[in-house]
Formats: sequence, C-alpha cells, structure tokens
Amino acid sequence: MSNNWVESTSRREGRGLYRMELNGLILKELIAQMTLEEKASLLSGGGQFYTKTVKRLGIPSMYLSDGPHGIRKQAGAADHLGLNASLPATCFPTAATVANSWDIELGEELGRYLGEEAVAQGVNVLLGPGLNMKRSPLCGRNFEYFSEDPYLAGKMAAAYTRGIQSQGVAACPKHFAVNNQELLRMHNDSIVDERTLREIYLTGFEIAVKEGNPLSLMSSYNRINGTYASENHRLLRSILVDEWGFKGFVVTDWGGSNDRVDGLKAGNHLEMPSTGGDSDREVVSAVKSGRISEALVDEMLDEYLQVLFATIIPENAPAFDMEQHHQFAQKVAIKSIVLLKNDDALLPLNRDTKVAVIGDFAETPRYQGFGSSVVNPTKLDKPFDSLTAGSLNVIGYTTGYKRHGGKDEGLLKAAVDMAQRADAVLLYMGLDERSEAEGMDRKHMRINQNQIDVLNAIAAVNPKIVAVLSGGSPFEMPWLDKCKAVVHGYLSGQAGAGAIADILSGKANPSGKLAETWPISQEETPTFKYFPGVLKTTEYREGIYIGYRYYNTADVSVRFPFGYGLSYTTFEYSDFCVNDQVVSFVITNTGALAGSEIAQVYIGMKDSKIFRAARELKGFAKVHLEAGESKTVSIVLDDKAFRYFNTETGQFEIEAGTYSIEVGASIQDIRLTSEISVAGTNAPIPYDAEKLCSYYTEKVSNVSDSEFAALLGRPIPNSEWDRSKPLGRNDTFFQLSYAKGWVGRLVYLILTARKNKAEKKGKPDLNTLFQYNLPFRGIAKMMGGAVDMAMADAILEVFNGHFFKGFGHLISAWLRKGRAAKDTAMKLANAESPIHKKEAANEHS
Ligand code: BGC
Repeated sequence: MSNNWVESTSRREGRGLYRMELNGLILKELIAQMTLEEKASLLSGGGQFYTKTVKRLGIPSMYLSDGPHGIRKQAGAADHLGLNASLPATCFPTAATVANSWDIELGEELGRYLGEEAVAQGVNVLLGPGLNMKRSPLCGRNFEYFSEDPYLAGKMAAAYTRGIQSQGVAACPKHFAVNNQELLRMHNDSIVDERTLREIYLTGFEIAVKEGNPLSLMSSYNRINGTYASENHRLLRSILVDEWGFKGFVVTDWGGSNDRVDGLKAGNHLEMPSTGGDSDREVVSAVKSGRISEALVDEMLDEYLQVLFATIIPENAPAFDMEQHHQFAQKVAIKSIVLLKNDDALLPLNRDTKVAVIGDFAETPRYQGFGSSVVNPTKLDKPFDSLTAGSLNVIGYTTGYKRHGGKDEGLLKAAVDMAQRADAVLLYMGLDERSEAEGMDRKHMRINQNQIDVLNAIAAVNPKIVAVLSGGSPFEMPWLDKCKAVVHGYLSGQAGAGAIADILSGKANPSGKLAETWPISQEETPTFKYFPGVLKTTEYREGIYIGYRYYNTADVSVRFPFGYGLSYTTFEYSDFCVNDQVVSFVITNTGALAGSEIAQVYIGMKDSKIFRAARELKGFAKVHLEAGESKTVSIVLDDKAFRYFNTETGQFEIEAGTYSIEVGASIQDIRLTSEISVAGTNAPIPYDAEKLCSYYTEKVSNVSDSEFAALLGRPIPNSEWDRSKPLGRNDTFFQLSYAKGWVGRLVYLILTARKNKAEKKGKPDLNTLFQYNLPFRGIAKMMGGAVDMAMADAILEVFNGHFFKGFGHLISAWLRKGRAAKDTAMKLANAESPIHKKEAANEHS
C-alpha cells in the first residue's frame, strides 16, 4: 500500500465510523486490518510529543507541539515545562496581549502564521489556543489566556483556530475545563454550580468549537465537581460532541490521564505523553475482560485517525520567512498595546523632547511567560535599541533597579541623575519573569518594590514620567498618580520593543483595550477569600460574578475597567438603532489623527427574576477611521445575547422582559443606550432568592456555606484531606508531609528544601513545583514507561510505611513490567492483519 497520505481525501460526514478514502482503502477497513494491540498503541504517546506508528500499515506518527503563541518543538531532550531549548520560532505576543486587540481578523491572521510555522517544523497539532477564564489575577498562567469574559475569549479562540487550521494543522483549544489555578492543578476539584459552569467556564469553549471547528481539544488536569476532566463523560460527550458538534479528538493534558479506560469511555481519545505501553495494555485487557467493547476502541481510533490523515505535513514543507514573521509579530503587538493614561497629551513624544530611558526591562525585555508555552525566539528586539532606532530624542539609558527585587542605592542615584537631565522619562517596569509561570500562582498582586522606589525618586525630580509596562496579568498601581502617562505592552512577544517605540513616537496610534479588569487591590477581587483552593477542592463561591460581572454589578471601584483603553484621537458615537437581532450605530473620529476604536455591546436586564450581572458583553467591533471619518457599525446579536442557563430545565432559556442594550467605549463608558422587549421561553425561575441573598445583592466576596450549598443544589464537598488514611494514587507529593512512612516524609522534606531554596533565590524551580503538585499516579504517567502503575502503587506502599512489602512489590512489578513490555513488543512486531489471518485460516481448512 502506498504511504502517500497527503493525497488522501476525507469526507466529514459526522460522527461514528466514517469513511475516509486512502488510496482506495477506507478508514474502517484500515482499522479492521489492525490487531487490538496495534489499535491500543495508537491511542497513547510514543514519546513526549509524538504518537506511535503502525509501520506495516503505513500509519505515521502525529507530532503535537506547544504552544499558544509560538511553536515549541524540542529537537533534543523534550519536556512539558519548557525547560529544555526548542527550535527557533517566532514568539508572537501571548494571548493575554492579543486579546487586548479585540481584533478577530488579526487573531485569525496570527493563527495562519502559527500554522505556517507548525507546518515548517513538521507539527500536526498545535497545542493552543488556551482559553481558560481569568477567575483571579493571581493564576500563574493568565498570560496564556485571553480574558475574564467568555464571549471575547471564545471569539478570539475561534479566530486562532480557524487561522491555524487553514494551514492544514490541527488547533487544540485547552484546557477543557474550569482549570483556573496552578496550585495542585492535577489534584484539585473545581466545585462550581451548573449555571456558572455553563455561562462562564464553558461558553468560551462552546464558541471556539462551534465557530472554529477545532480538530482536537485538550482536557484539563483538574476534576470538575468530583470527576476528572479527562474522564468526564458529560463534558466530553454530552456537551462537547452531542450539544456542540465537536468532530475532532480529545487529548489529555500531559500526564493528566487518571484511569485510562474510564477516559476512553468518557470520550478521551489520546493519552499523552508515553507511558511505555502501560496504558495500552490496560486498554487491551479492558477489551478482553469485557469492560469496554472493541467497537469503542475502533470508534476512538477512527476519530483520531481522521485528524491524523487530515493533517499530514508534506516532507518538503517550506521554511517560513523569519523576517516577515517578525514584522507581523510587531504588527500584532502594535494593535494590542493599551494606552492607560495620557495626561496633558504627553504622548506621543515629539522629536524635541529629551528622553531618558530607565529600567532593566528596557535593556532585557519581558516579552513572554514561563512554562510549556516558552518559545525560543528567532530574534529578540531590545527596547532601548528600538527607541534609539526610531525618531525619539533619547539621551541615554540606565538600569534603575535590580530585575528581581532588592535595593541598590547606586542604581537609584544614577536613575535620578539621568531623570534630572531629561525632559521626560520612559520608565520600563512591570512583573518580572519569576512572578508568573506555569505551575505556580502569584501570592500577591504587587510588582517589586525597588521599581516603585525608582519611580518615586525620579518623579520627585521630573514630573513627566511615562511608565512603560509589561506583564501578563494585572498588578496593583497605588503609584499611578506619579506617572503622567502609562503604556502597557502586556507580554508583547519578540518584536514588542519596536511596537512600543512606534506608539511612543506616534508612528502608530494605540488602539488596544483591556480584555480584563484591573482591580485596585487583591483584597477587592471577588475571589480574594476563595483563591486558590489549597486542599482537595476549590470552591467557586463567587458564581457568575467573575471580573467585571462583579465589579460593575456590585459597584466596586477599579483601577481600570474592562474594555478600557485610550487613543491619540477621539471618537463619538451616534445614530443608535436596535432590535433583537442587530445593533447599529455610527462612530466618528473627531480628532486629528487616524485611529481605531473598539465599540462594545453590553446587554443587561434590570427587573430580572434571576440574579445577573448588570451588563454582559454580547458583541464588539474594531473600526478603523481616518481623521474626521464616520462609519456605520452593525453588530449582529447571536444566540448568546439574551440567554441564561436554567438549572431546573437543564438548558439555556430566555427570560421575557425589557433588556437594556448599550454600546460603550468600555464597560464604564457607555455612549449609547436603548431598551428592547424580548419574548421569553417561559421557563420556571430556578432560584429561591431568600436562600441566595448574596447572589441577588451581588455581595459575593463572602458567601456563606448555606448559600453556596443552595447555589450548588447539594452539600459542599469536604475539602479536607483525610490524614488518617493511607495516601492513594490521586494524592499528591505535597501530602507526603503526613505520610505514615519515613521515606515519604523524607521525600517531602527534600522537595520542600529544594522549593524553599529556589524561592529564597527568587527563582521558582518549576520542576520541583511540578513534583510537589504531582499526584502519585503521575509517577507512572510522566516517566515515559520507566515506572508503570503497579510500580507506582508499590512506591506508594513504601511512602505509606510498608517499606519491605512495598519494596518487594516494587521489584516484582518491575520484573512483570519488563515481561509485559517484551510480550507487547513481540505482539506488535509479529502483528498480522486479522482479516488476512482469517482468510488464511479459511484457506487452510
Ligand atoms: C500544559 C499544557 C501543555 C503540555 C505539553 C502541560 O504541562 O498544561 O498546556 O500543552 O504540558 O507541554
């Protein structure tokens, strides 16, 4: 049979075993040629980032690669934390940045660039976009996610997906779902009520799936209301497939498989990374014992193979044009930068202004986050170089502060000296790379004090301070009044430096707006008391009141509201027309410069019988206007505009009544207001307002147990670890602190010492943090087959105080593993098509 898969044609006919023609052979027939061992082998990793092959049938391997904002293909040693170097690729701005562009077309174009680089590097599946909701500004991976609003996040994710897949590469939206903290991420159970789940945590994925048609999707590490995401049948089948029409395959997050067979049953096709065949053997024996049918394995394999064959990368794929991609990365950054403050129109800086550049980030930019998304950039522009190369009148640069905190009088004094000699100061500041990373959450929302010390000192000698910020998540700004202007680049990728220079000099007009609220302080966030969950569970007590849905409804002052951002020009809104399907209005650029405005449609219902946010984003448009130009903007209201999830009917419903339709330049800057009356679906009101007082009054920062239980519709699950019981597979290394065996406690002490040492140095040790948060089953799931589950169980026995018994079991499990691996290898090597075998047997008889 020919291996020319590229010429294969697929016919997407819906789910089930569907037919794909491969040089005359249909997929169903191909599967029928495989032995059970071969089938199982294709449903789990062959290494850290690739799947196995079946050579005798010409089935190639699939390569999956991070990450959301650039390709991280490791040519040498591979790991899932971004610790080892990867091939050079363009580091585009991260999702938190691009979301500020509110530009769907840009997102799709960026997807095309990512897809092109994936093809050039032989990657079939790009592990992104990431679209978890920003429940708390402290989540360590917020920089990889789009927004606190599911509509905006979903639209951006769908755009990335369409773009990536236009290049013949599969996108893989992640992490599905309710994965909003890093602490104990593989153990934690997100306790969330049904309405919040559907409206907030699933709606973004719903949009991404329905409007982006991803060919794959990654289930998250955590549990949701008691069931691991990777084996959550309701999520992976009833909702994802049956309701939303998903037609791709689901992959576990790396090491996130719990019970492989339950995962398969629930709709999880592929387990990653390799477990050395251990999981495949589980699948084979589950079929043999009748726990699952072979037909299920066939169906899962069929769905996986459809994507494999649809994403075959030609061997001679062209290299991408690095310089052109770099230029595009700069364009994306320009469109995403947010101007937060510009008193007395200090910006753009004119050519006569003598500018001092201060801050370590101006020499070494902060441009991406840490962890599995880390990209090895093709090149990296330095802010200071970009400033001097542009049209600004730069008088010099000084470091100002030590990058990772700590006092330095010499640096401070040099900064003050330079500030004194300048007309204006560009002070580069923000979160350092140790503050935000995969695997850890921030503990507070502050930036390093030494940066604030510099700001205070230079503001005393020069009133014209422009803060140039970087960081992937909001931080507190009690020092804001010391700055006359503030420009925020977020994490703007390898070409971000030039983008900032263009904004500062006026070569480009800022047009980004915040895709998340900037609270005044951590204490004022709705999750202050609930984030992160530190034991077994994380309680989502704030319910639907995430981000602006809380601040705006409960009237809590914020530093910068959702949807906020300034321009060097001004816009006026007029001619408002509304019906229940479309909103239209006119925007006029009333200033002297061309610019782009992001108009936002918010819908609310004052006299609602259910509790709701005062306003919710239901549409938006980014419009470019020359000076003096006007344009009519029409925004279609879709099926999400008036719906809410009704827990009694178990579906989305519409409440009849009068809705406010508003168009704003931000959630707090409403320019046009109207009302319409909408017919409802007459569903019963599912709530007893008396039992949910905090929710009806939006005071959700301190919800009582009884109210949360009423919202959940069941008792709140116990979060405590039962320290009297022996540790189990799903307990974590973190819990070794109370292990019964001395070996376990010793391991805990060693890990803690390593973690503390790294923290003292100010540099988190991601590997140790990962191990700390790892459940014991992870030993078998993350070591490429060096340890299997029986060995992991034996190690657990040792930790639980049965030293000799556990050790004995460890040795025998190891011997068994060796034999099983040999046996599997033999079966795979001698595999013969079951059909041919049958035919041969018939001929014989
Ligand atoms: C991350 C995923 C990533 C995977 C592979 C995991 O630790 O959670 O986002 O795609 O590693 O690197």
